[in-house]
Amino acid sequence: MGEMKNVTYGVRLYDPNRDAAPHWETFTIPCPPGMTVLDGLWKIKELHAPGLAWRSSCRMGVCGSCGMLINGRPGLACNTQVADLKSPTVTVAPLPNFAIIRDLVPDLGPMIERHQELRPYIIRDDIAERENPTGEFFQSAHELEQYLQFSYCIKCGSCMAACPTYATDPDYSGRCRWRRRTATTPTRATRASRRARTCSRGVPGHGAATSPASARRCARRGSTRRRRSSS
Ligand code: SF4
Ligand code: FES
Repeated sequence: MGEMKNVTYGVRLYDPNRDAAPHWETFTIPCPPGMTVLDGLWKIKELHAPGLAWRSSCRMGVCGSCGMLINGRPGLACNTQVADLKSPTVTVAPLPNFAIIRDLVPDLGPMIERHQELRPYIIRDDIAERENPTGEFFQSAHELEQYLQFSYCIKCGSCMAACPTYATDPDYSGRCRWRRRTATTPTRATRASRRARTCSRGVPGHGAATSPASARRCARRGSTRRRRSSS
């Protein structure tokens, strides 16, 4: 059992119905071993700020709801332990590059809309079979392996928050959409692998949308450029 300590959170707050601009407030809370940044927000809500708003759901890094700027870097609050930050303070702010709905809640609507426009699933070439399938669409383990990684995006928005291209080009589709462009719907390998290669190379004129490893590099850079949200 580790020792219970206190930790101070700096939280960027903004209520569009009340505040002219975002502002910071600090809250000191107990920090038991293993506490995540998300756990801390719940404790702040319980002890100090019942109106504090953020998104979260699964608490296990699956739903993608809790993306926020943690100590200046985009990440998942439920997947980040306070102790791992190795800092006496924790700052949390909404993801940059998105409008703020309230407090730590970004408006991810534009990202989702662009995602839908890209039709993020595999589309069969043979229209007749697609419209009136005569059997199952098989895929081999090898075919699945070629594009499975691209289906893992949970649309947390962290890469977009760290992306200087998205900060200056609202039409940029983003890496998460290209990861989603391939789907797990069983279909022919040729089509699937072509889409997978497209994801890996990116789209001319839209920067490189590449592998998950690159996504994490974006997040580690922690760009704080803001396009729509004010400081
Ligand atoms: S690609 Fe972007 S939106 Fe998708 S999980 Fe990774 S950081 Fe989140
Ligand atoms: S609450 Fe679902 S990813 Fe964090």
